[in-house]
Formats: sequence, structure tokens, C-alpha cells
Amino acid sequence: MPKRMLLSFLVIFLLLHSSHAKCRPRQLPNPADKHIFILAGQSNMSGRGGVRNGTWNGYIPLASHPSPAILRLSAALQWEEAREPLHADIDINKTCGVGPGMAFAGGISDNIGLVPCAIGGTKIMQWQRGGPLYSNMVGRAREGLKEGGAITALLWYQGESDTITAEEADAYKANMEKFIKDVRLDLGMPLLPVIQVALASGEGPYIETVREAQMSIALPNVVWVDAKGLPLNEDNLHLTTGAQAQLGRMLARAFLTHFPIPRF
Ligand SMILES: *[C@@H]1O[C@H](CO)[C@@H](O)[C@H](O)[C@H]1NC(C)=O
Ligand SMILES: *[C@@H]1O[C@H](CO)[C@@H](O)[C@H](O)[C@H]1NC(C)=O
Ligand SMILES: *[C@@H]1O[C@H](CO)[C@@H](O)[C@H](O)[C@H]1NC(C)=O
Repeated sequence: MPKRMLLSFLVIFLLLHSSHAKCRPRQLPNPADKHIFILAGQSNMSGRGGVRNGTWNGYIPLASHPSPAILRLSAALQWEEAREPLHADIDINKTCGVGPGMAFAGGISDNIGLVPCAIGGTKIMQWQRGGPLYSNMVGRAREGLKEGGAITALLWYQGESDTITAEEADAYKANMEKFIKDVRLDLGMPLLPVIQVALASGEGPYIETVREAQMSIALPNVVWVDAKGLPLNEDNLHLTTGAQAQLGRMLARAFLTHFPIPRF
């Protein structure tokens, strides 16, 4: 009797062991359980870290490494394992490098679905409802929901292109508030969390006007993190790879501090 029992144990052990070994390689998270984050704005959100003279150096810092728990909605609307450059097939007219998205996702220990939508050089007026950037973003977010999950927040890094004229800078606050209200309405999420990055500099002289607008958005569940002091590429125009990794972690901390992560 004990001999037979021992044999059964051995058989069971071998079965378990072999099936375990077979299933082991990379298990993508259940799409129904993912927290979906929209990434939108202009070049710094898209990511230019490590780009010099139109070529990306390929370096990915530890904080931005891929993980099977982090997915990305491709331009072809497929969920796939995410990796930098997250916007390579989205912001297609520019060379993309490292942005804040992967480091953000890595800073939140949960299944994440990133929906990259940022396009370099865009102004807030181009993101208003009715325009192609807006429609594309909302359409991608909705498409991302088809296999389940929940839209959890919008990460927004934009405004540099609105620092050039006083008119545009002065209108930034009202335009940003309208944009947020429209997105919330169209996604049916009146309190959708929004995390903005407050500009450290811009393309024009009205940086402070835009920064003040960002910091005083009069809507609930809208917060900001400050990019001031983060190092720039030699182009003096974009955050470095290291700065992007740091910014991603700042965004994750801000999210976890201000918004409890919804449970499924
Ligand atoms: C980029 O181009 C400039 C001007 O053509 C050149 O001086 C510089 O060495 C280049 N940098 C790299 C990293 O290739
Ligand atoms: C890329 O450039 C083309 C031609 O100028 C333009 O039609 C298109 O909208 C641009 N796409 C993006 C994503 O910037
Ligand atoms: C990128 O972000 C940095 C830091 O906020 C800012 O100084 C720079 O102007 C931005 N560049 C562009 C092109 O938006």
C-alpha cells in the first residue's frame, strides 16, 4: 500500500512539474483585470529620451523595463506587451525614444494597459473635441475597454507649444478645463483622474502663464507633478532618458497618493 501511494505521489509530482514547466513562459495578464491609462500630450509624453540627431540610442533604464504585467494598445488596436518607445507607431513623424509611460506603469504594482496617444508639437486647441487628436484618443480608449478592464486615469504632458503667444497662454486654463470636461463626458467618467505634468520650460516666453493655469485647474480629481529641475537632452528641448524614468515614478507616486487604485 505505501509503495503504491508513493508511486501515485511521484506520478502526480511529475505531472504537475511538467505542466508547470510548460505554462511557465510569459503569461500575459487577464485583459479583463487591467487598469487602463491614457497617455496624451506632446513630445515629452511621447518620449524623446535618448534621441540624438534623429536616432534613438536604444538604452532603456531599469525603471522602464518591460514586464508581462504591462500591456500597450498598439496603433493597430492590439494589446501587446509594452516596451519603449511606447509611441513608436503613434507619433510616427518623429523619432521616438524613452518617455514616462513605462516607468509610470512599473511604479504601480498591478496589471496595466497603456494607451499611448501623444503627438509631438501639438497645441491644446488641436486637442479639442471634434479634432482628430481628440477623436483618436477617445476612440482608442474605448477600443481598449473592449476586452474588459477599466479606464483608470489620463496622464497629460502638454502645453509647451502654448507658451509662444500671450493669447494662447491666457486661454490655456479654459481650454484645458474644457478638454477635461469633454473627455469625462465622452468616456462617461465624470471624475476620471487626470495627472498633468507642470512645464519646466517651453517654446516661448509665456511658460509661467501656462504653469499657473495647470496648477489652478478648477475641477475635482485633477492634480499635477512638477517637471521643474529635471535634466534636458543636449537639444535643450526634451527630457533625458533618466529624467523620463524619474518623471514616470513621480507620476506613479502622485497617482497612488491621490487616487485609490480601483479593485475589480
Ligand atoms: C549630431 O549632429 C551634430 C551636427 O551634425 C554633430 O556635431 C554631433 O556629433 C552629432 N551627435 C551625435 C551623437 O551623433
Ligand atoms: C505625419 O505627417 C503627415 C504629412 O505631413 C500628416 O498628414 C500626418 O497627420 C502626420 N501624422 C502624425 C501622427 O503626426
Ligand atoms: C519637454 O519638457 C521639458 C521639461 O518640462 C521642457 O523644458 C521642454 O520645453 C519640453 N519640450 C517640448 C518640446 O515640449
